[in-house]
Amino acid sequence: MLSYAEAIKVRRSIRNYDKRPLEDNLLVKIHNLLENPQRGPFGNKPRFVFIEKPAAREQEKVKLGTYGFITHAAYFIGGCIEKYEFSEVDYGYSLERIIIELTRLDLGTCWVGGTFKRNDYKVLLKTKETETIPCITPVGYKAAKKSLRERLGLTLTDGSKRNPFEKHFFENNLETPLRFNSEDKYHQALELVRRAP
Ligand SMILES: Cc1cc2nc3c(=O)[nH]c(=O)nc-3n(C[C@H](O)[C@H](O)[C@H](O)COP(=O)(O)O)c2cc1C
Repeated sequence: MLSYAEAIKVRRSIRNYDKRPLEDNLLVKIHNLLENPQRGPFGNKPRFVFIEKPAAREQEKVKLGTYGFITHAAYFIGGCIEKYEFSEVDYGYSLERIIIELTRLDLGTCWVGGTFKRNDYKVLLKTKETETIPCITPVGYKAAKKSLRERLGLTLTDGSKRNPFEKHFFENNLETPLRFNSEDKYHQALELVRRAP
């Protein structure tokens, strides 16, 4: 199994999924991950739901549309958190932990904050007025090919591009770029931040 650092390095947004249903052992692992989510650094705890699209469509009459940005995904993770200062940071922390664990299981995911029908998730999560749904992710086996939209360059951004380390991180002031030193454990951690979605 990949280490956490390796998983962060290989993770990419997956927008095209294989239609095969997930194996039972993976479903159990996903449920375990979602059952007791990690509290974020600001102390807020999100709650997550695992959604099987066909069942949700039938029982809750929701469409779970992604405006064509995500194709063939049969499973999604939706989540919400109380609206407090910095609670969305906590949500990001908790969902990214889940996404890294799913990457270690060789499953595809994609942070989706804009291109999804939020109201459908409000129904499934039974959100209160005081809660917000910052982002969701599809989850499933990756399809062999990228989606047509991706191949045509019609996704929001091209994830293969990252600014170099010294354009992200600075020392003492914003005029002094931090030069990457592979021996420095803080630089190693910042390099993983640079690789994050
Ligand atoms: C908070 C957040 C919201 C995002 N929302 C969307 C979205 O609505 N639709 C989408 O296709 N990708 C979305 N993405 C995925 C980014 O486009 C993607 O992470 C970025 O291009 C880097 O690519 P990578 O994930 O392959 O490294 C989102 C990413 C983040 C972090």
